[in-house]
Parts: sequence; structure tokens; C-alpha cells
Amino acid sequence: MTANRLTVRRAVETDDAVLLRIDQTSWDATTGFPSYQEHIRDSFFARSGPEAHLVAEYDGQVVGYLRLQDKYPFPEGEGVLTINGLAVALDARGQGVATALLDAAAAEGKRRGARKISLHVHGTNTVARRLYERHGYVIEGTHPNEFLIEGTYVDAIDMAKML
Ligand SMILES: CC(C)(COP(=O)(O)OP(=O)(O)OC[C@H]1O[C@@H](n2cnc3c(N)ncnc32)[C@H](O)[C@@H]1OP(=O)(O)O)[C@@H](O)C(=O)NCCC(=O)NCCS
Repeated sequence: MTANRLTVRRAVETDDAVLLRIDQTSWDATTGFPSYQEHIRDSFFARSGPEAHLVAEYDGQVVGYLRLQDKYPFPEGEGVLTINGLAVALDARGQGVATALLDAAAAEGKRRGARKISLHVHGTNTVARRLYERHGYVIEGTHPNEFLIEGTYVDAIDMAKML
């Protein structure tokens, strides 16, 4: 993949259908919450609007998204952003799409004057954990057996990167 074939931009309303399809096929019990999957049926942006999303395009096709939001709704927490979702279409993985989205999120955070980006990841999600580590995210805390997913207890891991 050459750099000019992969671009990242802010989402717009008309991305809804393609992002819904990506979301419906991207997550499994290792990476997400099966109960949440049952809810995403009609609208990707029902949860939060286009302004909260960066999308990656490969050859003009939307292939992934990253949801970047303020972590706290009060002024003392200003400057801390959180990644509340990152997914890449199955057939576009392993080609640097998430890498481009994470780079864009860091640039966007700096542009907004943020000092930190945080996120949660399942302990079982080794692919995502390796990706975040490569991007400078460090573990800030582990919540052992935080979730019971399809009969197995799963750790929740807090990671963050200083900007
Ligand atoms: C985790 C996820 C977002 C990664 O997306 P991705 O676009 O495949 O990620 P990247 O391509 O940037 O990096 C993944 C791997 O591809 C490699 N890669 C990056 N650019 C590449 C390129 N040009 N050619 C080949 N491989 C490349 C990376 O080195 C990385 O290798 P690693 O497995 O050794 O770390 C994707 O697997 C996904 O959507 N998973 C389900 C949802 C999920 O888990 N989200 C995170 C929740 S916290």
C-alpha cells in the first residue's frame, strides 16, 4: 500500500451505511462485547455523530474508523481524549489502516491542545494491544476479570499515550 492510496479524514453523515457494515463484521468476543453487537442494526451514528469519528479510505473506499471523544464532561478533565472505538474492515487489515488512524488521532489531539489519549482494551485482544504499544500507549492499569464474555472472564486494560 502506498501512502497516497490511504487517507484519513473526518467522517460525514453519508458514511453511516459503510461504517455500520464495518462495525457489524469487525468485532467478536475477543475484541468487543457481543451484547453491543446486537444493538448496532440501523445507524452507526446513533451512538455519537460524525464529528466524533475519523475514517480511513483506501482507494476512495472507507475501510475503517476511529472514535475520538473527550474523556470527561467537566473542565478539570479537559485535555484528556479517549478512543471509544477503532475498527478496520476484515479485508483491509494488516496494511497500516489502524496505524494511519492512530497517527491521525494523535495529530488531532495535538491540534486540539490535548495532553493525553486514553483507551480500554480487552486483555484477550493481543492484536490491538500490540498495535497500541507500537504507537506509544502504555498500560496504566488492569482490571482483572472485569467482564464475563461468553463464559470466560476477561481483563479490562487501561492504556494511554501522552501527547
Ligand atoms: C486492531 C485492528 C484495528 C488493527 O487494524 P489494522 O489496520 O489491521 O492494523 P495495522 O495494519 O495498522 O497494524 C496491524 C499489523 O499490520 C502490520 N502492517 C502495518 N502496515 C503494513 C503494511 N503496509 N503491510 C503489511 N503489514 C502492515 C503492522 O505491523 C501490524 O503488525 P503486528 O500484528 O505485528 O502488530 C483490527 O484488527 C480490528 O479492527 N480488530 C477488531 C476491532 C478491534 O479489536 N479494535 C480495537 C479495540 S480496543
